[in-house]
Amino acid sequence: MVSPRFLSTLLFSVSTVLAATADDWRQRTIYQLVTDRFGLPDESFPACDPASAQYCGGTWRGVEKHLDYIQDMGFDAIWISPVAKNIEGDTGDGEAYHGYWTQDLFSLNKHFGNKDDLNSMIAAAHKRGMYVMADVVVNHMAGKLADISTEQESSFSDFFPLSTNDSFHPLCWVSDYTNQTEVEQCWLGKDTSVALYDINTEHHKTMLQLDDFVAGLVSNYSFDGVRLDSVKHVQKDFWPQLVEAAGTFAMGEVRSDNVSYIANYTDAMPGVLDYPSFFAVREAFSSTKGNMSAIVDVMNASRQHYEGDEFLTGAFIENHDYPRMFNLTSDKALVKNALAFNFIHDGIPILYQGQEQGYSGGNTPSNHEALWLSRYDTRHDMYRTVTALNKARKQAVNAGKRFLVTAMDFIKQEQPGVMAVSKPPLLALLTNAGSGGASAWDVPKVYKPGTELVDVLSCRTYNAGDDGGVQMSSTGGMPHVLIPSAHLSHSGGLCTTEANAAPRRVGTPLGATVLLGFIGFWLL
Ligand SMILES: *[C@@H]1O[C@H](CO)[C@@H](O)[C@H](O)[C@H]1NC(C)=O
Ligand SMILES: *[C@@H]1O[C@H](CO)[C@@H](O)[C@H](O)[C@H]1NC(C)=O
Ligand SMILES: *[C@@H]1O[C@H](CO)[C@@H](O)[C@H](O)[C@H]1NC(C)=O
Ligand SMILES: *[C@@H]1O[C@H](CO)[C@@H](O)[C@H](O)[C@H]1NC(C)=O
Ligand SMILES: *[C@@H]1O[C@H](CO)[C@@H](O)[C@H](O)[C@H]1NC(C)=O
Ligand SMILES: *[C@@H]1O[C@H](CO)[C@@H](O)[C@H](O)[C@H]1NC(C)=O
Ligand SMILES: *[C@@H]1O[C@H](CO)[C@@H](O)[C@H](O)[C@H]1NC(C)=O
Ligand SMILES: *[C@@H]1O[C@H](CO)[C@@H](O)[C@H](O)[C@H]1NC(C)=O
Repeated sequence: MVSPRFLSTLLFSVSTVLAATADDWRQRTIYQLVTDRFGLPDESFPACDPASAQYCGGTWRGVEKHLDYIQDMGFDAIWISPVAKNIEGDTGDGEAYHGYWTQDLFSLNKHFGNKDDLNSMIAAAHKRGMYVMADVVVNHMAGKLADISTEQESSFSDFFPLSTNDSFHPLCWVSDYTNQTEVEQCWLGKDTSVALYDINTEHHKTMLQLDDFVAGLVSNYSFDGVRLDSVKHVQKDFWPQLVEAAGTFAMGEVRSDNVSYIANYTDAMPGVLDYPSFFAVREAFSSTKGNMSAIVDVMNASRQHYEGDEFLTGAFIENHDYPRMFNLTSDKALVKNALAFNFIHDGIPILYQGQEQGYSGGNTPSNHEALWLSRYDTRHDMYRTVTALNKARKQAVNAGKRFLVTAMDFIKQEQPGVMAVSKPPLLALLTNAGSGGASAWDVPKVYKPGTELVDVLSCRTYNAGDDGGVQMSSTGGMPHVLIPSAHLSHSGGLCTTEANAAPRRVGTPLGATVLLGFIGFWLL
């Protein structure tokens, strides 16, 4: 007889072999980590000064060791740094600890571990039901700028497999970003010590070599998806066949705040990072003067222009390339509102490591702080906030798949600086009044009359009015994220006493407040 346990193991191994689709990813949330800066496999916490731009010691075994920390926050996918061998030594711009300076696509970066280590980490993630996304760089290889004019041919020989002249575009530097030909065919890195040799992606043999690389990468290590670097620097018609070769979900980095420009790439790959909303949300919530209506405009425009009604984006408010939110403002209330928006976003929410520890680094490289210096503090206020928002989204997904395909509805508000976003069963009431401000929302007819609602950030309960409307006010600039209490499952680890008793609970300080209920704000 076949035991159920064996069956589930069997089913699970089958499911990990099948490539993940956009719809598989749509249900998830992603934690973006910088492999060198996330974790070590032992209990050491070495000093790490981001400004010196050296390797600090993080490894794939270190990621494996700290998967609990990520999973307990509610994430079921991670995106890791590029794994390929990079330029070695100090370049004048520091070391290649971030992984974006490839030299050999077919060898691993030994600073992060070996093949067994990478396989072991990915297997451990899969065992927990977590996906792993590879970061793939095919626009360029990296060499020292100083080598270019003198011994260009010999610097190609450091590269693999693209080691000949015809694999690269002739040297010219990108300077005019409005000239798409230049953006695609010229080189990046002029003002640094590291030149990014622009791969000649129009060259047929080169194209096949890159397809072969990405296919091998995904299948050799069982990655569940790829993040494509520097998408706009490669001609658009290159991408569909690379995505096909990858055989799994792909999400592209097209850096621009221009929705039409991004939209142009949305028929070439299954997902894009939503840079337009990234810029709009950061602007709106980095001061009390931010422009909230710009968010609504950007989201509306992307819905009009992106391919298909259910086109998938990655939603983020921080990443490794921009100053952190806490570098733009020290007001925690503002940052929490931005986070709340990110977790009700129509795209896949992505959190960049360290935001959950309140890190405040500025431009690269100071925004690459080592996470271990926080000692993985699961009691940090931001960690708890992320956990609550993440789990609320998960419960909304579990309440019915409609959540995933129902676009956010922005309900017009009278008061400037406030925003009401409905994506049933969630309702986010946001404000950029800041910790010194007062806000009020009036949202008609969003729930069934009298529905009991829980604010997942405070665990207070409220009731929708007789018309199903919600009227709330707040001081201190905090957002409210509401969900019908009927959708809060006892095992969801959110605003339940059961969750309080669970051994690995890391959520918000809740419990008893639910029982008190009905306190707090007056509702229609
Ligand atoms: C390849 O060689 C040609 C002819 O010597 C030269 O014009 C071109 O710049 C070279 N390409 C690169 C990337 O060095
Ligand atoms: C765009 O850039 C390409 C490559 O550098 C150049 O040949 C072309 O003249 C530029 N076009 C315009 C309109 O400037
Ligand atoms: C994948 O594995 C094959 C077989 O071992 C190997 O030839 C190929 O180089 C690997 N590809 C990558 C990108 O690691
Ligand atoms: C779309 O992108 C392609 C290639 O990247 C470019 O040639 C074309 O002009 C773009 N179209 C628009 C409308 O931007
Ligand atoms: C936005 O992108 C579109 C399509 O590439 C382009 O036609 C337009 O000029 C861009 N707008 C701005 C303000 O750059
Ligand atoms: C806010 O942004 C929108 C564009 O989305 C713009 O039309 C409006 O003028 C901006 N408001 C302010 C106060 O800057
Ligand atoms: C959304 O955009 C469309 C077309 O761009 C426009 O007609 C419509 O009024 C916009 N809706 C909102 C709510 O701004
Ligand atoms: C913001 O970034 C700058 C540049 O990295 C840094 O000097 C400053 O200390 C940062 N601010 C905060 C609040 O961390």
